[in-house]
Amino acid sequence: MTESIFDTSASALINGAHYTGLTIAIGAVAMRVLVLSRGGLSVSERTPATRDAARAAVWGSVLILVAAPLRALNQVRGLVEPDESWIPMLQAVLGTSVGKALQLQAIWAAAAIVAFLVAQQGRDRGWKIATVAVVILAITPGLAGHAATSASPTLSLAASMLHLLGAGLWVGGLFHLWRLTGRSSDATLQCALAAFHPVAMVGAALIVMSGLYQTWPMVGSPAHLVSTAWGRLLSLKLALVLGVLLFGYKHLRSAEQSLGRGNRAALRRSLGKETLLALAVIVVTAVLTATAKPL
Ligand code: HEM
Repeated sequence: MTESIFDTSASALINGAHYTGLTIAIGAVAMRVLVLSRGGLSVSERTPATRDAARAAVWGSVLILVAAPLRALNQVRGLVEPDESWIPMLQAVLGTSVGKALQLQAIWAAAAIVAFLVAQQGRDRGWKIATVAVVILAITPGLAGHAATSASPTLSLAASMLHLLGAGLWVGGLFHLWRLTGRSSDATLQCALAAFHPVAMVGAALIVMSGLYQTWPMVGSPAHLVSTAWGRLLSLKLALVLGVLLFGYKHLRSAEQSLGRGNRAALRRSLGKETLLALAVIVVTAVLTATAKPL
């Protein structure tokens, strides 16, 4: 019993680091490509914000990189006998489809770190490579998880990828927008807010559609939403998502006016609360994916 709680906690911690890093990295690309470049800002106005997003994304990519070997080692730990050597088992794990997905994750996380470091220097090439890297990184959780072994792997992999890209667009973008409230000019922030709304809405739509698609074959029956640990965690996640959606709606209606009236500190606090609630969704998801599914 103690060991199974330890196993779930270790897996949840590793998943949490992975998802947080991925969300920050995808959010940085969304900020640069879809928000700051389209918000009507000049290059000199947007450069400090894009560099800042790239700096945060370097750390996000480090989390993704660290999560890959940790997940492989955690799997090995669960398979070896106390007096058995870890090396042959590690080699066996790396030869499985999960192991190969983790290797892909490590390689592209390393590429993303280099790309974001180059982007931080203001070089466009860095952003182009970072864009490719984050799209590939959004496929790897599906390859290493339930999606690859489901009845229709192609659709499930696409749904998993869109779910993660949606999380990056919405929650990742929100995180970078909140950081902007502490460092950019009012003019930059106004443009970023206006350009972020449609990106967040597309991200939220992708999340909800792909989330529902993933939920159905996993939950089996609505009764499992309350009768199983996985179902209760999913219900908690959905309640938190509703909270984030309500905050998002409030900001959609009032964020720019609030900034226009000079209430920057209040806007920063409110965006901070939405970001924290979205982080709670990621934490619950990390436990959810480490918990046995009803089906
Ligand atoms: C702010 C909103 C959300 C965020 C940030 C989020 C994030 C995530 C992440 C990072 C994963 C892990 C992906 C993987 O390992 O393949 C995931 C899995 C999942 N999400 Fe979401 N999600 C959100 C909303 C939703 C919604 C609205 C639903 C349902 C309608 C949903 C249902 C699921 C399901 C069923 C899984 C798979 C769980 C498992 O493998 O045990 N998510 N989500």
